[in-house]
Amino acid sequence: MESVRFYLPTAIFSGPGCVRKEAERWLLGKKALIVSGAQGAERSGALGDVTETLKTHGVAWAHFAGVQANPDVAQIYVGAELARQEGCDFVIGIGGGSPLDAAKAIAWVAGLNVPQASFFRIAPETTDAALPIVAVPLTCGTGSEVTPYAIITDHGAKTKRNVSAACLFPRVALLDARYLESLPVATMADTALDALSHAIEAAYSPRATRFSEALCLEATRLIAPELVRLAHGDFVNRAQLHYASTIAGMAIAQAGTGLVHAMGYPLTYYKGFPHGRANGVLLAGYLEFMERTCPSQTARLLQAAGLRDPEELQALVDAMLDTAGTTPEAPSEEELVRFAREPLRLDLVKKYRAMPSPEEVMDIYRTGF
Ligand SMILES: [Fe+2]
Repeated sequence: MESVRFYLPTAIFSGPGCVRKEAERWLLGKKALIVSGAQGAERSGALGDVTETLKTHGVAWAHFAGVQANPDVAQIYVGAELARQEGCDFVIGIGGGSPLDAAKAIAWVAGLNVPQASFFRIAPETTDAALPIVAVPLTCGTGSEVTPYAIITDHGAKTKRNVSAACLFPRVALLDARYLESLPVATMADTALDALSHAIEAAYSPRATRFSEALCLEATRLIAPELVRLAHGDFVNRAQLHYASTIAGMAIAQAGTGLVHAMGYPLTYYKGFPHGRANGVLLAGYLEFMERTCPSQTARLLQAAGLRDPEELQALVDAMLDTAGTTPEAPSEEELVRFAREPLRLDLVKKYRAMPSPEEVMDIYRTGF
């Protein structure tokens, strides 16, 4: 029997009304810093549930609203300064990946005295440094509510970078799928593709275990039929996608992401593609590439998705983006050549099971467009 490690210190409460019902579980201090985007927290009803619960239990709060997509280090330091000035002793992130990752990074920086220029060099071993984090996800993609990662834009390196530390695992995740009812279809499609890419990349990771692989295959099995419904413009089971994105997050918390995320970051930084869409267009090309070195794992993933081959996945992604009206504009050949050089420098690919050549990276980009 192999030795397996599975570490997940996040308490998960799920179901309609869980924010109010589980109040005793997530009131982690005397004053909260709520971190959210501009609209989603209020529109979804999550912000109202959180603030009503805080009020009922006599817990004060400050609100850092308006976290932008792909938050950068400057935003993190503004939020952390607010947390310090207001004397907040825990952080509540409400939103998709950007607000949740910002909340986690703010909780970390607020508990440390590190200059902004050194942010990406904060040692992961600062395990007790972060203020306790509560995560309320409002999309069905990021999985950030159960991971030790925060993805922050690094303008110096002109890309997004992953910071990782055990203290970035939220203490509590509150999953109420009713908050997804107001989510625009295009955002749902993009974030579902992010969740699928988490499931697929983690399944190929050298750090994959029996536990993480089971989560990857189950997430893939649940997400694929919803992509078909999205492609047909049919009713989508949002609760299913919400659940699947969290278990895919649990998988990357153990096994990490890989080439698709590394290749997607330049598409987001330079071309403005939403994160999930950037990953989604690359998934079929990635499966084709991995099929050569890991044919049995590729067969398992395709079987879980109910798909014959990577071409069928590409057709599904194309149809889905077409229905959502979000077909991305293809980058030029020169841009792709430049992007193809970037992911190869990233550590997460260097440690990966199959190291692609620059030509193979180009092939994956070309398959997506
Ligand atoms: Fe992602």
